[in-house]
Amino acid sequence: MEKLFIYIDRIYYIFSSFKAKAFLKFLKIFSIKRTHISLHNKLFVDKKISELNKNGYCVLDIENIFNSKKIEELYQNIEELKKNKSKIYKKQYLINFIGGDFLKGKKQKFDIRSRLYQLSINPTLLNIVEGYFKYYCHIADIQLAETRTLKNEPKSKRIYSQRWHRDPSVNGVLKIFTYFSDVHETSGPFEYLQNTHSKFPEFDQKLIKSRRLFGGSFYPDQEKIDLFIKDHKNYKKSFIGKKGTIIIADTDGLHRGGYIQNGTRLMSTFVYYPYYDPIKTRFTLNRNLKSKLSGIQKDFF
Ligand SMILES: [Fe+2]
Repeated sequence: MEKLFIYIDRIYYIFSSFKAKAFLKFLKIFSIKRTHISLHNKLFVDKKISELNKNGYCVLDIENIFNSKKIEELYQNIEELKKNKSKIYKKQYLINFIGGDFLKGKKQKFDIRSRLYQLSINPTLLNIVEGYFKYYCHIADIQLAETRTLKNEPKSKRIYSQRWHRDPSVNGVLKIFTYFSDVHETSGPFEYLQNTHSKFPEFDQKLIKSRRLFGGSFYPDQEKIDLFIKDHKNYKKSFIGKKGTIIIADTDGLHRGGYIQNGTRLMSTFVYYPYYDPIKTRFTLNRNLKSKLSGIQKDFF
């Protein structure tokens, strides 16, 4: 049934965006082969892919991706981006320095000179993303945001994505979260219910199933989830971590985050969808800049 669903969606994809180039990329989906990485790196990538398949998430450190010079430049870049005019949208608890308005559908230029943007198309991360989906993928969105406490909200009340939810997708969506501040229990860690991603075959999703493909996320009955957690205590993962922690999660699985009691959390979010998914990239990248990218990086636009 699931396979039929994916095939229907691929057919939808052809008809909804029928362009020669897109059609060729669609055909390439059937013969995906990746040999862009060294053997040492391949073992690391394969380990992370198998953790993702098994649990729905995996954790890395920025040191696995960037050398110390690049890390320093990345942190400098974050400080510069924080000087940008910040914006607050529907999720009032987030101060956005990049993005936060994905649902408005506005296109955005991909800033190839920025270390943060470069991290989003790091070959190791892209190989994990494509290896997980076994399809060509694109980068849909980038966000950099800081959480804040809301004075008007009672402390016990979680709103929007602070509640358990599933992101919209056909067959999974990967998000890569990077902490740019130390994140403690009370400063809004990302939380995930292990094995609730649809790629995990044994999980009984009848209780909290979603088939939302468009628009916003799916918010199931929170009380039912609390009861589920009571019986499955090991399933709930709370990602406390120091600055530089990277979490990759299939957010088709149940997750929540950003609920602050004390302190703040500065975090970037990169969003990746397989090519057949109706949710497309928001980025534009001019041809000259794109030609300087590696093969796997080009695929993501
Ligand atoms: Fe989400």
